[in-house]
Amino acid sequence: MSFDMTALFRPDLPAAGGRWGGYPEYSFVGGHNDGDNVPFGGLSEAAVSVLRREGSSLASYNVGGSPQGYAPLREFIAGSLESRASTPTDPEDVLVVSGSLQALDLVNGVLLESGDTVIVEMATYGGMIARLQRLGVEVVGVHLDDDGIRSDHLGELLSDMAARGVKPKYIYTIPTVQNPTGSVMPVERRLEVLALAREHGVAIFEDDCYADLVFDGSRPPTFRALDDGGGQVVYCGSFSKSIAPALRVGYLVADWAVLGQMMALKNDAGTGAIEQMVLAEYASSHFDDHVRQLASVLEGKCRAMTDAVTASFGDAASFTMPKGGIFVWVTFAEGVNTGRLAKPALEAGVEFNPGAGWSADREWGRRRLRLCFGHPSVETIRQGVGVLADVFRDQGVI
Ligand SMILES: Cc1ncc(COP(=O)(O)O)c(C=O)c1O
Repeated sequence: MSFDMTALFRPDLPAAGGRWGGYPEYSFVGGHNDGDNVPFGGLSEAAVSVLRREGSSLASYNVGGSPQGYAPLREFIAGSLESRASTPTDPEDVLVVSGSLQALDLVNGVLLESGDTVIVEMATYGGMIARLQRLGVEVVGVHLDDDGIRSDHLGELLSDMAARGVKPKYIYTIPTVQNPTGSVMPVERRLEVLALAREHGVAIFEDDCYADLVFDGSRPPTFRALDDGGGQVVYCGSFSKSIAPALRVGYLVADWAVLGQMMALKNDAGTGAIEQMVLAEYASSHFDDHVRQLASVLEGKCRAMTDAVTASFGDAASFTMPKGGIFVWVTFAEGVNTGRLAKPALEAGVEFNPGAGWSADREWGRRRLRLCFGHPSVETIRQGVGVLADVFRDQGVI
């Protein structure tokens, strides 16, 4: 009889993971990027030059510098927020993290307790919903339109909560290239949302994971910039979508009172230094050109995906044209349950994200699904969407 370690597990764990079985033929899930547009040539040159110059500094944790991250990378992030998103930033307010998922964990670690309430966009990042649920937090969805958070609905929610004596800890928003809808919140709407957050004394957690991938290159000022030193916004970004997700480099920007507390929680002895050094070396001269090229490739793939959905599903599916990023959020008729279609689709070689997992209200999300067009080729997109429509037809859904 072998020892049963599983009998010792704590009782509140999430369901155990299965072993990875490889990707299906048509994988439209996850936040993967376009393989041909990972700038590995530039990254390898940057790696050689930075390691030849500074490699001996790897002998020390945090390459002998601040635990906030490699200083040239923090300077690049601060400069890029100013030039690309009109957000003047002090590199001393930047904390480099191991992917922005770690940023979500640090913000939640500092702010949330079981029983707290958080407002999220009705369709939002599944990884955040899962985190909040695991923490025992009440997740309330605010409705969206083509410009992001509907401020009329946010006002109603906040007033209703205030009347019940509930004060949400923060509003989580992905304002620039929303995941999954692909909308970009215009500045006027941001100001309305910020005004409501101020009126009700609620923090804003701004997740700008995809903000460098607006197809037409126009990026509104961030909530953090509009807050103008008001201390109400915590901001995070990532190099996962602009360079490569496997790098695992993201960043948090917050005032020191908040950042210092997060640093106390980030007890991992520092985010990987080689990726930070290579990124800083590469990005300081190539970032803008690279993301311009990547965004234009993604725009082409987006068109391939939306054309394929229109051609294969016709009137049975609707979507709003994404303004950037790597996802299309598709809605079907009342009564459709995309969760039930995931298994037959996978058997036919197609993987998609059922909408319930990307929705604050699972019931609302049931007739929706998310398709990622970042990684597959245009040909794979066309074929795979056709196969997916066949599955929907075989199942009598369309
Ligand atoms: C909105 C959003 N935030 C955060 C993340 C986490 O990204 P990463 O940890 O790779 O930076 C993702 C990943 O898809 C995302 O979509």
